[in-house]
Amino acid sequence: MENFSFHNSVNIVFGKGQISKLNTLINKKNKVMVLYGGGSIKKNGVYDQVMAALKDHQVIEFSGIEPNPAYETLMKAVEIIRQKKVDFLLAVGGGSVLDGTKFISAAVNFKGYTWDIMSKNAPLTEPTLPIGTVLTLPATGSEMNANFVVTNKDTQEKLGMNKKEVLPQFSILDPEAMFSLPERQISNGIVDTFIHTTEQYLTYPAQGYLQDRQAEGILKTLIEIGPKYMKDKTNYDLASNFMWCATNALNGLIGVGMPQDWVTHMIGHELTAFYGVDHGQSLAIVLPGILEVKRSEKAKKLIQYAERVWDIHEGDDNHKIDIAIQRTINFFESLGVKTRLSDYGIDDEKFNDIKARFDRRGLTAIGERQTFTLNDLMKVLELRK
Ligand code: NZQ
Ligand code: ZN
Repeated sequence: MENFSFHNSVNIVFGKGQISKLNTLINKKNKVMVLYGGGSIKKNGVYDQVMAALKDHQVIEFSGIEPNPAYETLMKAVEIIRQKKVDFLLAVGGGSVLDGTKFISAAVNFKGYTWDIMSKNAPLTEPTLPIGTVLTLPATGSEMNANFVVTNKDTQEKLGMNKKEVLPQFSILDPEAMFSLPERQISNGIVDTFIHTTEQYLTYPAQGYLQDRQAEGILKTLIEIGPKYMKDKTNYDLASNFMWCATNALNGLIGVGMPQDWVTHMIGHELTAFYGVDHGQSLAIVLPGILEVKRSEKAKKLIQYAERVWDIHEGDDNHKIDIAIQRTINFFESLGVKTRLSDYGIDDEKFNDIKARFDRRGLTAIGERQTFTLNDLMKVLELRK
């Protein structure tokens, strides 16, 4: 296991009725901006609960943060915050609203061209705004990490960033807020959680025995409860277990001291940027291709995955890997998430553009061993046609 230091200060407030705690979690002296998406929170009662809890606070609202939040939209919030002197941000929604709010927090006092925060990893030398979140869609882990992903519509770029300065102070996780989720978002969330885990697990053995078991625990839990939850989406126990899996898959804990891959996400972001497929869908397309192309380098962990996660004990190593990859595909498809580019009407027209972007950004030797090349990228795309 590699050396590591792990610090995660997010106060997780989990369970039924916990949105009312906003009343005490945010100081009454704060001027709060409540940020949300396209209005799902107005239909499922979350908005009313938030507003009731904040009735003694000074509140202004910013709505319309879209899935794959757009830089252009977020900058509108930045302007309002600067004018109205907002000093606390409350994000209410899924990963897009949370990520968008993190960008806004970073951008408000930023001196210079704000897109540089994403494109050049510009340092945040000015104070960021404190953030709290109310999560309505488990998937990204954004509620307990410092990552944010923003799309620039103008340049058709989708870029991710990590800045400790925008880690939320607290996140409220009420599984009942999930009961209104459409099937497509539940299945996307399960796939995203699954693949956050595989990015940190399907690499090479690194003697992180506990981290391996934690990752396997998340994967096995998702395999067990995912299909049940799709059919029974107001089941509190299933919802709460899925929600807690999603947070644990990307709050940093399972990846400490371990090699990490993240190439599925890098390619997935390009598929979303170019073709608009959902984040979860993009990952379900790419992962099987990566596992195939890198099967010999990942062999030891793939066999462990086959045996411990899928209980495959018959046949030789190659057979175990084949079956494990196929079961992974079947799992995503059983949730209703298609796994081929052609399922989404995508052909090879933009493959060279994706390759050119990787090249331009210097992403020519990536993955856990820095051996994933542009050639591998093209192989993965071809395999997933
Ligand atoms: O906008 P509203 O009306 O709220 O509707 C949303 C949106 O249309 C809806 N929704 C959310 N909660 C709901 C609900 N509908 C009914 N009931 C509820 N309770 O779901 C739709 C999708 O929401 P979105 O926030 O886009 O989904 P998700 O949480 O999957 O977030 C995806 C974004 O997060 C980024 C992705 O790239 C993508 O931009 N990621 C962020 C990460 C992070 N911060 O660590 C890591 C991930 O790998 C990922 O890249
Ligand atoms: Zn993801």
